[in-house]
Amino acid sequence: SGAARPRLTFLGCGYLGATYAICYAELGYEVIGYDVDVAKIENLSRGEVPFHEPGLDELLRRNVASGRLRFTTSIEETADFGDVHFICVGTPQRSDGMGADLRYVEASVTDLAKNLSRRALIVGKSTVPVGTAEWVERLVEKHTSEELGVEVAWSPEFLQEGFAVEDVLRPNRIVVGVKTEWSNALLYAAHKGVFDLASTEDREVPVVVTDFATAELVKVAANAFLATKISFINAMAEVCEVAGGDVTQLAKAIGYDPRIGNRFLQAGVGFGGGCLPKDIRAFQARAQELGAGEALRFLHEVDLINLRRRARVLHLAAELLDRRQGPAGPDLAGARVAVLGATFKPNSDDVRDAPALAVAGMLHEAGADVRVYDPQGIDNARKAHPELTFEKSLQEAVAEADLVCVLTEWAEFRNADPAALAAIVGKRLVIDGRNCLDASAWSAAGWTYRGLGRP
Ligand code: UGA
Repeated sequence: SGAARPRLTFLGCGYLGATYAICYAELGYEVIGYDVDVAKIENLSRGEVPFHEPGLDELLRRNVASGRLRFTTSIEETADFGDVHFICVGTPQRSDGMGADLRYVEASVTDLAKNLSRRALIVGKSTVPVGTAEWVERLVEKHTSEELGVEVAWSPEFLQEGFAVEDVLRPNRIVVGVKTEWSNALLYAAHKGVFDLASTEDREVPVVVTDFATAELVKVAANAFLATKISFINAMAEVCEVAGGDVTQLAKAIGYDPRIGNRFLQAGVGFGGGCLPKDIRAFQARAQELGAGEALRFLHEVDLINLRRRARVLHLAAELLDRRQGPAGPDLAGARVAVLGATFKPNSDDVRDAPALAVAGMLHEAGADVRVYDPQGIDNARKAHPELTFEKSLQEAVAEADLVCVLTEWAEFRNADPAALAAIVGKRLVIDGRNCLDASAWSAAGWTYRGLGRP
């Protein structure tokens, strides 16, 4: 063990920790995944990934079978095994809706530290408010004896759901916040599998070695930038709507400028998921605490623009269905609306803060008879919104519908035949909440097509 091929543990086998544990075993490391959730550990040990992520199941089975990867609920075993311990537990939004709740970070670090009996490095990966790494270091000092020489480092991750395996095996950068040469060298060894893979493919993975605060900030700054980019184009969509422009063409045109770039300029019903919405709120709260609230005031606007897109779909629905806009919003009583999509993006079963599901809820509130279909997200969606009706297929959801709303850009919806669907709906009205359909093909099949930010 030691610096040559350190043994790795990942504490918290949720989306982040499980993905990392599996991928680092694939890179050749000996790995333990630890979690307090018995069911989760049993599933993973059996070779079942408890969430949807393309390619991960196969890697899990292969590496559990090879013996390089195992999962446990024993913190003693975890503490004893690892040279490098990655903290991957959740940092949910606090109940006041703003800051991050660090109770799981505190619990996992404390339990680990108390059980360490040899030198090790504890590396934070969870998304946290700046300053957390220093606090973790004090926690570790409190619960380990000084002779052990346990150290702390920070290394944020940037994985995107749906691309997580690629993002972990082939990251576009690695950022480490370290204080000593010892921890820097050990963390380098813990990432060496990634560098080796890159060199066999003639690539290089840039590394930024920095201080704790910068490492923590990189993560939230990146997500704040991405959220801002999306809200920027959605703000342009709002302007296009009143000016008669087409935001999809506008995005294409500005995206050709390499300084702007064409990615993350997809106007639609906005961003959701477990990261961007909560991260921009937590970042604002933290900046406020530190006395730099003004610097991030624009993130409040980013949030508002994002939420206004949901209301826009509701208003478009009322307009298309010829309904009155009352003071409490439109009245859609009796209208049958098919909502296609529940997850926050395609190729995921994650419905956290999903715009699609939020809009489905709003349509239901407005009195519509809402039928939701999603290729992967129904089980999670039903738990979050038991009041909605879920259908098992696209056809069942749109049958007899007065209006079809496409709110997550699954390939199944993009590739659907508008003529075939036209034959089974009540009215040929479609709102393309992701600007993902071929507008002319739908129009040609007799549909009244409305995109967001388009004439
Ligand atoms: C995001 C970041 O992209 C990752 O880099 C980061 O590591 C991760 O959060 C995290 O903090 O863990 P993710 O939440 O998986 O990843 O989703 P994204 O692909 O970023 O999409 C977020 C939302 O933005 C989705 O609802 C998507 O539909 C929306 N979006 C994205 C748009 O509305 N328009 C776009 O052009 C792009």
